[in-house]
Amino acid sequence: MSLNIPTLLICSITLFSLTACDKKNPQSVETKESLGKKLFNDMDLSKDGTQSCASCHNSDHAFIDSRLNQTSINTSIAAVSLGQDDLSLGDINTPTISYAAFVPDFHYDEEEGLFKGGMFLNGRSENLEEQAKQPFLNPVEMQSTEELVVEAVQTKYAEAMTSIFGPSIFNSTESAFIAIANSIAAFERSEEFSSFDSKFDKVLRGEDSLTPQEQLGQAVFIAEDKGNCAACHPVPNLDSSKMESVFTDFSYDNLGVPKNNLVRSQNGKPAEFIDNGLFENPNVTDMELKGAFRVSSLRNIAVTAPYMHNGIFRNLATVVHFYNSRDVKGSINPETQKPWGASEVNETKNTEELGDLKLTSEEETAIVAFLKTLTDERYEHLIQD
Ligand code: HEC
Ligand code: HEC
Repeated sequence: MSLNIPTLLICSITLFSLTACDKKNPQSVETKESLGKKLFNDMDLSKDGTQSCASCHNSDHAFIDSRLNQTSINTSIAAVSLGQDDLSLGDINTPTISYAAFVPDFHYDEEEGLFKGGMFLNGRSENLEEQAKQPFLNPVEMQSTEELVVEAVQTKYAEAMTSIFGPSIFNSTESAFIAIANSIAAFERSEEFSSFDSKFDKVLRGEDSLTPQEQLGQAVFIAEDKGNCAACHPVPNLDSSKMESVFTDFSYDNLGVPKNNLVRSQNGKPAEFIDNGLFENPNVTDMELKGAFRVSSLRNIAVTAPYMHNGIFRNLATVVHFYNSRDVKGSINPETQKPWGASEVNETKNTEELGDLKLTSEEETAIVAFLKTLTDERYEHLIQD
């Protein structure tokens, strides 16, 4: 009996701070989204308890991997990520997953005759719910199994899982694993990932205005006879839906991005290995789509270096200069002081919309200034000059 007195006391105190004594207290009710957040951040769901989704998708850094490794140059953020064993290296630059919730499910658009959407840069996962299962099992990422993930979740989150998905959720490993992925996807669909509060958004709402340089950048970005960037990265207006506001048409293109030799020298891929992008997707058989990757969202682009699917460029200015001068004889990559390297997939690269845009250096710089305005408020401090 004597135990009840302190318990009662603690309960009456904590009641004011709304922690849980009463299980029906609304503050303590777990939702798919709140459970998903815990799972997203939980290292125990990787093979040796060393890595979570957040290790590679850091919420303090626009959901990219901000760690350095042997694919970093100087002190730049690494081109590809280390797995949970601290040894395995991927081959694709970890993309931001801010605004990923607005990428449509993978599909073929009959009207335009184009593949669109899907998760991963080659669309091989239909949507966030399907995607969230993969990193746990990936041999260069979290290196676990469905059984081990479900076991770890059952040990730590049984109450939340059964209250959300019903008392029999752990009867089948498969259904529990799906529930885990669905919870993570619900978290990824939350506002924490997509705040729409960049300077650009404020300008749209009439709460801020672009500088003359940013304005020039926007104009060059849109103009068909200048940057023509908006052909693939459409610029939203006030009437646009959220899906139309992430600066991508979700289609696929081969920009002729140079091979990343540093990454390949470190991750053990054979010298002749070629990443065929969309053509690696089992739904795609058209050889013309070799080397195509999904058009990136440009939200938070100024703070999510390095760039392109293989992290080949460290500066935004270099990316813009690449579009402007890829096919200009004698042009130089400012990061290496050498010519742009050979395209990984040369035969299908887009030569109509980029490569020789004839932009002045003032126009290039203005595009970079415009792109910086697409940074969410909480990441603005990460922008570098
Ligand atoms: C070891 C680093 C690493 C870990 C851990 C990791 N990811 Fe990723 N993530 C990546 C890389 C690399 C890609 C791109 C791979 C590709 O396109 O082939 C990616 C892609 C994604 C995408 C697709 C983004 C897009 O635009 O298509 C989502 C969503 C995502 N990850 C969520 C997660 C979730 C959820 C977890 C945890 C279950 C997780 N990631 C764990 C590195 C990681
Ligand atoms: C023909 C379509 C197309 C046009 C035109 C285009 N882009 Fe892209 N953009 C893409 C594709 C596809 C990717 C992803 C390529 C890859 O990873 O291999 C991309 C990637 C990028 C990236 C890097 C994204 C990241 O997260 O790594 C930036 C920055 C960018 N584009 C800016 C621009 C600018 C600025 C222009 C105009 C000068 C432009 N784009 C014109 C299709 C296009």
